[in-house]
Amino acid sequence: MGLNRLYHDKQISILKRALRNDWYMMINTGAVRAGKTQLDNDLFLMELRRAKKNAALDGVKNPMYILGATSAGTLQTNILKELTDKYGFDFKFDKHGNFTLFGVYVVTTFTGSIAGLRSIRGMTAYGAYINEATLANKEVFDEIRKRCSGRGARIICDTNPDHPNHWLKVDYIDKADGKSIIVNHFTVFDNTFLNQRYIDNLIATTPSGMFTERGIYGRWVSGEGAVYRDFKEDMFIDHPPDQITKVFAGVDWGYEHYGSIVVCGQSADGTTYLLEEHAEQYKEIDYWVDVAKDIKSRYGNIKFYADSARPEHVARFVRENIKCFNANKSVLSGIEEVAKLMKNGRFFVVESKVKKFKDEVYQYVWNEKTGEPVKTNDDVLDALRYAIYSQLSEPKAKVKRKSTYGL
Ligand SMILES: Nc1ncnc2c1ncn2[C@@H]1O[C@H](COP(=O)(O)OP(=O)(O)O)[C@@H](O)[C@H]1O
Ligand SMILES: [Mg+2]
Repeated sequence: MGLNRLYHDKQISILKRALRNDWYMMINTGAVRAGKTQLDNDLFLMELRRAKKNAALDGVKNPMYILGATSAGTLQTNILKELTDKYGFDFKFDKHGNFTLFGVYVVTTFTGSIAGLRSIRGMTAYGAYINEATLANKEVFDEIRKRCSGRGARIICDTNPDHPNHWLKVDYIDKADGKSIIVNHFTVFDNTFLNQRYIDNLIATTPSGMFTERGIYGRWVSGEGAVYRDFKEDMFIDHPPDQITKVFAGVDWGYEHYGSIVVCGQSADGTTYLLEEHAEQYKEIDYWVDVAKDIKSRYGNIKFYADSARPEHVARFVRENIKCFNANKSVLSGIEEVAKLMKNGRFFVVESKVKKFKDEVYQYVWNEKTGEPVKTNDDVLDALRYAIYSQLSEPKAKVKRKSTYGL
């Protein structure tokens, strides 16, 4: 079978470079779904064989190699499952979650938190493969690099682009010399295994601005201008539709700043409606308990996803028999989901029930230096993001309950 049936052109040229002259670190960065991980998984197998040979020259019979992924979930889905599906490997894990492949002991580590250090501290590795490198804790990344002291050890990384001041960009990508550190850049168009319809759909559904620059073109850009630039005036509606099957709320605590509770409704296809906004300054927790109880009396025992920064307020809600949970506060992922709904025309706002939202949605802007939004004009928008993203990232219940909320 020809190479071009197995790899796309960019993958082939990188493979050829990888085999030609020696290198120390290879960073494959760029668009989502570009074929970075597929390539790196194969490079990983090639590197294991190389590691075995290099270790033999040192008289080491059981060499070690580091395999890093953000979490156990991404290790499984991005790497191990892909390799099992493609090559039929049956990974046998020991009690440390590690396995042996091609005579190399592969030590897995979860780079997403500092706890990842524990599994690799003190070891000598003959190489490392780090999936989603920008999401790695920098200390864990540095430790992996230090551990790679075995003869000929190399490091393979893949990552989606992030903020231009990210340490991976500044300390490694910007210092690439094409010899010791090699950086390869991908766009989604490089992946000729994706069909045109899929690519068109991906482009159509990716939020405009930073998310498109990074996700489609693979560029390391920071956000600039409005965060929710896909929000349009015609997303304001007079009444919520009848087909709402799920209602949930988001809570952002505040006193000097506005405190805010928003209520969202969702139809079966995921279209999301901002049904009401409650935003007030200088109100004590008792006030917010009353607001939540009133919401509960009208919509039923719905979930409230609240800012975890005030655990005593969350605890108070729970004591008052309000179904209150800590929100998933991941900023960029949350914004991306809200922005996706807007871009896809699946977000509407009941105009008469909101006030502050109207100002915030146009004034909420990126801070180009930090890569996050400027923390003003965000009280209602934070509550909205907590509601939408927490609801979405929550494990789905097996049985779908259909109910109407008398809207
Ligand atoms: N060499 C390849 N052969 C066949 N399909 C591929 C190949 N490379 C990529 N693909 C397809 O493209 C998808 C995205 O590839 P992946 O490596 O996961 O992208 P990335 O890591 O850049 O997000 C894969 O799920 C697979 O369907
Ligand atoms: Mg990937």
